[in-house]
Amino acid sequence: MSQSLTALRPVAERDHPVLSELRQDVVLQRMLLGAAEPITEPVADWLTRRAAAGWIMTVTDAADTCLGYVQLFDRHDNNRTAWFGICLALQARGRGHGRAATLQTLEIARTEMNLRKVSLKVRADNPASRLYSRLGFRAVGTQRAEYDDGATLHDVVIMEYLFDGRSAA
Ligand SMILES: CC(C)(COP(=O)(O)OP(=O)(O)OC[C@H]1O[C@@H](n2cnc3c(N)ncnc32)[C@H](O)[C@@H]1OP(=O)(O)O)[C@@H](O)C(=O)NCCC(=O)NCCS
Repeated sequence: MSQSLTALRPVAERDHPVLSELRQDVVLQRMLLGAAEPITEPVADWLTRRAAAGWIMTVTDAADTCLGYVQLFDRHDNNRTAWFGICLALQARGRGHGRAATLQTLEIARTEMNLRKVSLKVRADNPASRLYSRLGFRAVGTQRAEYDDGATLHDVVIMEYLFDGRSAA
């Protein structure tokens, strides 16, 4: 499990099939607090929307294979905050790429974007929260019965990573 085997780069057209598959996976979208029904929007349109809302990068392995994406969005210039999202293809999971891509994104947020805090929302039953906790994100609250997947209401946990480790006085 080495961080150098995971890289972030701008999204290329050759990544679209992998990203499109992630978008069309309804079970995955429901875990991501996304659309509860199948998505029909072309992946290129979604990427244009996400790029307009912030920053999105492809996560790759050492062979430059697209594994998924990371994003920082809804950046607030005054507060120096933004929201984080990550999604990897099923076959890419459990090999350290998520951890490495999250750490690399946090580093970019801190050094290149000059952010103070990165927040995220995670479905309460998503094991991804364990990874975030281990990386230093702190759960700061739960939105009860927040996400409706069409059949079930799910609690959503908000987690934050403060670069200077300080809360407000
Ligand atoms: C969450 C995600 C990015 C983690 O990336 P990854 O490459 O699988 O994770 P890593 O190999 O770096 O780290 C493994 C850790 O991730 C956590 N994890 C995340 N999803 C998991 C799953 N489905 N099953 C088990 N562990 C999971 C665990 O804490 C695990 O550590 P452990 O094995 O010690 O329990 C990836 O699994 C993914 O894209 N999942 C689907 C989309 C998603 O849920 N995104 C997060 C939305 S907030």
